[in-house]
Amino acid sequence: MRRYGYNPNAVIETLHTAQDAFGCLSSAALKYISESLNVPPSKIFGVATFYNYFNLTPPGEHVISICTGTACYVKGAGEILDWLKEEYGLEPGQSTPDRKLSLKSARCVGACGLAPVVILDGDVVGKVSMDAMKKRVREWIGNDQ
Ligand code: FES
Repeated sequence: MRRYGYNPNAVIETLHTAQDAFGCLSSAALKYISESLNVPPSKIFGVATFYNYFNLTPPGEHVISICTGTACYVKGAGEILDWLKEEYGLEPGQSTPDRKLSLKSARCVGACGLAPVVILDGDVVGKVSMDAMKKRVREWIGNDQ
């Protein structure tokens, strides 16, 4: 915040920096940012919840973001979501109880030609197959089922 002169227009930059420092945006961090930038808490919370990038709870060890835009959904993202729910009980916004996996959904990430697109620990993977997803997730959790 000091870097941006406590400018109320630096909300996104401040949230980015706070999340990088702490791993997620706790309610205490959001309150502190609100008071420091003199921006209403509702606006801070609105920005933090609008952007898929921001986490209000600590993410799991591995994070899967699945694009659920129309092109990706039609090309198989829905089946991947169904599998993650069936196999691990995961729905978007949740983590497994052991915090190995977190699942997020995103609206079109701008790579529709590569549908279905997933982001695995920050790496964008296009044209992902169900087999490739299963392999990666099972490698992460140490399960060869
Ligand atoms: S719908 Fe998934 S990248 Fe556009």
